[in-house]
Amino acid sequence: MKISIASDHGGFELKEQIKKHFLSQGITLQDLGTHSADSCDYPDIAHKMVPAILNKNADLGILICGTGIGISIAANRFKGIRAAILYDDFTAEMAKKHNNANIMVFGGRTMKFEDVIRRINIFLNTEFEGGRHNTRLAKIEEGI
Ligand code: RB5
Repeated sequence: MKISIASDHGGFELKEQIKKHFLSQGITLQDLGTHSADSCDYPDIAHKMVPAILNKNADLGILICGTGIGISIAANRFKGIRAAILYDDFTAEMAKKHNNANIMVFGGRTMKFEDVIRRINIFLNTEFEGGRHNTRLAKIEEGI
């Protein structure tokens, strides 16, 4: 499974920690930036992740900004993107089970590294339930 990761400056440190953690387990995350702690605009970062997911260059994404809010709003503007802020362990499970999220979102200024790693693992180890949830996801894609 290919996983891409990207953050703005508010999530830079957490992004680096997550990459290092997975690398120590032999898993390389594809880093789409930002590549320093210098200030940048989170929509630009979301706009790098969106094509990676939609063009299937990555199976899943991880996006991080200061709170997770701005970058998830930016990513969710695009059809086919389901970016979910995994703000606790239950949410991490449900984001896969019911929402089949394709981007996990975290807040670099609001979440602890250990919690984030645990939530990523919960998400990766949970199956999408399908069924009635497919109907609901289809309605999201249809819009109004
Ligand atoms: C950047 O200062 C900050 O606004 C951004 O990282 C994010 O928290 C926005 O939602």
